[in-house]
Amino acid sequence: MGAALLGGLLKAGHEIGQIVCTTGSEERAGILRERHPGLRVLPKGNCEAVRGADLIVLGVKPYAVPKLVDEIAQELNESQVIISLAAALPMAVIERRVNGLQMPVLRAMPNIPVLVEEGAIALCANEFATLAHRDMVEQLFRAVGVVVFVEEDMMDAVTALSGSGPAYVYMVIEAFIAGGLKMGLSREIATRLAEQTVLGAAKHVRQSGAHPAILRDEVITPGGTTIVAIHELERHGLRSMLISAIETATKHARDRSAAFVQKLES
Ligand SMILES: NC(=O)c1ccc[n+]([C@@H]2O[C@H](COP(=O)([O-])OP(=O)(O)OC[C@H]3O[C@@H](n4cnc5c(N)ncnc54)[C@H](OP(=O)(O)O)[C@@H]3O)[C@@H](O)[C@H]2O)c1
Repeated sequence: MGAALLGGLLKAGHEIGQIVCTTGSEERAGILRERHPGLRVLPKGNCEAVRGADLIVLGVKPYAVPKLVDEIAQELNESQVIISLAAALPMAVIERRVNGLQMPVLRAMPNIPVLVEEGAIALCANEFATLAHRDMVEQLFRAVGVVVFVEEDMMDAVTALSGSGPAYVYMVIEAFIAGGLKMGLSREIATRLAEQTVLGAAKHVRQSGAHPAILRDEVITPGGTTIVAIHELERHGLRSMLISAIETATKHARDRSAAFVQKLES
């Protein structure tokens, strides 16, 4: 995720000389240097990278964040901003480890389409983050997608909707392709039609500003094929299934986050 964000930032024109990356291993550092000639990469050099940084992005796995913050804590100051990419990790876990500093901390929930600069990124911020901090972080993430701000207690719902959401949509595309194959379309044509149908429908929703139900209704002709297919989808509970999936995933994310915090505090 960190590498995807880095790629987006560079593509959006951010200066390579203003970015310092750290990795856990020489191997990963080598990959990054090869991919981005001129990039400063410091394997295990977290304290050195934090020294003098304006903005610190924590891109390690959630379980590794507390130890990482403990490691860099002595280098932090209140003019810096911390952004955590860690799923399920409350900002309070970081706030408790910054030596009592009143630092702006933001939490980001990006999704995998940041790889193609079409991510959906939700951000939340603590009480020390000013409007200027929020704007600065929003600008950064805009390099890799669409950005929204939510309250922290909504991050589990975000995880369930847009964090995991690409997996649901991949399943829809997969099923469209299978349907096309079943009806005799070639694999290549079924794939191109399926992916473009999802892409085009999403773009139509965004550009028209209309509720999807209205757009769906516009596709229906009386006695036509679309209404027959919609009847089948309703009979199998498509919308209800997706609502339940997001509800269940939100509860799971909430439970996981609570268990994580409990484990850290025990
Ligand atoms: N992947 C997603 O779709 C997604 C979505 C939303 C949020 N996130 C969040 O993004 C974070 C990263 O996930 P990921 O999937 O990108 O993990 P990942 O592929 O394992 O990447 C983690 C990176 O952190 C480096 N690292 C590990 N320990 C380090 C240390 N002590 N100091 C400096 N660098 C260190 C690793 O380098 P080495 O390989 O050299 O150890 C690696 O480059 C997680 O907190 C996750 O919750 C991910």
